[in-house]
Amino acid sequence: MTDPIRKPRLDGLLDYLLTRRSLSSTKLTGPGPNDAELELILRAATRVPDHGKLAPWRIQVVRGEAQHTLGKRWAEIFRRDNPAASDELIESEAKRPARAPLLLIVSTRIENVQRIPRFEQVLSGAAVCLNAIHAANALGYFAAWNTGWPAYHADVKAGLQIPESDEIVGLIYIGSATQPTDERSRPALEDVVSYL
Ligand SMILES: Cc1cc2nc3c(=O)[nH]c(=O)nc-3n(C[C@H](O)[C@H](O)[C@H](O)COP(=O)(O)O)c2cc1C
Repeated sequence: MTDPIRKPRLDGLLDYLLTRRSLSSTKLTGPGPNDAELELILRAATRVPDHGKLAPWRIQVVRGEAQHTLGKRWAEIFRRDNPAASDELIESEAKRPARAPLLLIVSTRIENVQRIPRFEQVLSGAAVCLNAIHAANALGYFAAWNTGWPAYHADVKAGLQIPESDEIVGLIYIGSATQPTDERSRPALEDVVSYL
C-alpha cells in the first residue's frame, strides 16, 4: 500500500542530481532524441513551477534544415555587427544553432498580470530549461544550457518572433557526447548556505 504521507525514496534521482554535469555544446554530436523522446522532453520541460498557471514561456524546436537556415541568419547579423570578423568566425556563427542534433530555444512570454511579477515568470522559464536538461539526461542524452550574444540580440528575437520585451532564457542543446564529461568544482556548502 502506498504511504499517503511520504513518497518512496528516489535514490536514482538523487544520485543523478548529485553528479549531474552539462557537456559543452561544442562537444555534442548525434544521435539526438527521436520524435517520441522529444515529446517526453517537452512534456517534462513544461511541467514546472509556474506561479498563477500562466505558462509564461515558449519553446521553439530547431532541428535539421531549420538549424542551418537559422545559422545563416545569425551569421548575417553577426557579420553586419562585426564587419572585421574573419570568415572562420562567421562560419562558426553559422554553425552555432547546429552544435547538437537538437536545439530548444526557450523564451519567456510574459503575461502582464499584476499579481505575478515579471521576475517570477522569468524564473519559471529557467525551470523549463533545467527540466528539459534533466529529461534529456534521463533518456541518456547530454545537454548544454547556453545563451551567448544571440539570446540578447533584438534582430535574433525579431527573426524568431519573440517580442523584444521578452527574454530568450536558454538555448538548450541536446545530443550525444564526443567525449566524457569531467568533474567541475562546486562551491563548498558553507560558502553559500547559512542557517538562521
Ligand atoms: C542562463 C545560463 C546561460 C549560460 N550560457 C552559457 C553559454 O553561453 N556558454 C557556456 O559555455 N555556458 C553557459 N552556461 C553554463 C553552462 O550551462 C553550465 O551550467 C556550466 O558549463 C556548468 O556545467 P554544469 O551544468 O555541469 O554545472 C550558462 C548557464 C546558464 C544558467
